[in-house]
Amino acid sequence: MTGTLVLYVNDPGLVPEHFPAWGEVRVLADPVLDFPAHSLWLDEHGLAIVGPGLRKPFRLREAQVTRRLKGRGELLRACGVKKQAPGLRVADLFGGFGIDSAVLALAGCEVHMSEKSPLIRMMAIDLFDRLGIEVDTRHEDARSLLSAAEADVIYLDPMFPEGRSTALPGLTAQMLRELADSGASFDAADWIPDALEHAPRVVLKRRAGDPWHERPDFEIRGRSVRFDVYVRTGR
Ligand SMILES: C[S@@+](CC[C@H](N)C(=O)[O-])C[C@H]1O[C@@H](n2cnc3c(N)ncnc32)[C@H](O)[C@@H]1O
Repeated sequence: MTGTLVLYVNDPGLVPEHFPAWGEVRVLADPVLDFPAHSLWLDEHGLAIVGPGLRKPFRLREAQVTRRLKGRGELLRACGVKKQAPGLRVADLFGGFGIDSAVLALAGCEVHMSEKSPLIRMMAIDLFDRLGIEVDTRHEDARSLLSAAEADVIYLDPMFPEGRSTALPGLTAQMLRELADSGASFDAADWIPDALEHAPRVVLKRRAGDPWHERPDFEIRGRSVRFDVYVRTGR
């Protein structure tokens, strides 16, 4: 499940300590622009992705997270995050670049996330470092995190089927689409009942116009996405 992971640096002293031992570090004196495959690139500006189709390194910006904290956004409301009660434990099973995990962590949640793609996961860890937050970030299948989860909320944001608009805007969504482990297509019926065994609240992110898997207990709607919330009590 590890795949390949290549990190290009011009200074080997920059290699982060959490870079996995099985990854490959290539030292480059000069930047090369035609990388044969998507890889990590580390320079004085931080970690980035380079590779086919990218004219410049792709970077995540802290503002992608911090602007989402203004006003209590849909994700925080769907997860039941209250200003006065920090420490909610959230398991983010499909962690991606960690943008949602970071929003939750900055709002005071204890976040555990799994992400199957090592390259995407490294970008998430770098983002957490820059934001000064701790998120338990595992390189493993979502099923493993689910089976061990002791959480108040299980958050599911799988890849949407291709074709229509996505939840994350622009280049970030495109990068996810290219790099993500699309795996088997997500079937909510396989996940929600199991998730409710591990947490009293399960939040599933969908595109605004997607059909429900099963009528949720309630939903929180954003402009382009919808959060379906399933709660264990009263079911
Ligand atoms: C839509 S993205 C999540 C975006 C994320 N919420 C964010 O804020 O960046 C879905 C992610 O799930 C990952 N993924 C797909 N199947 C997985 C699995 N079985 N286990 C762990 N991660 C998985 C993909 O690699 C992708 O990065």
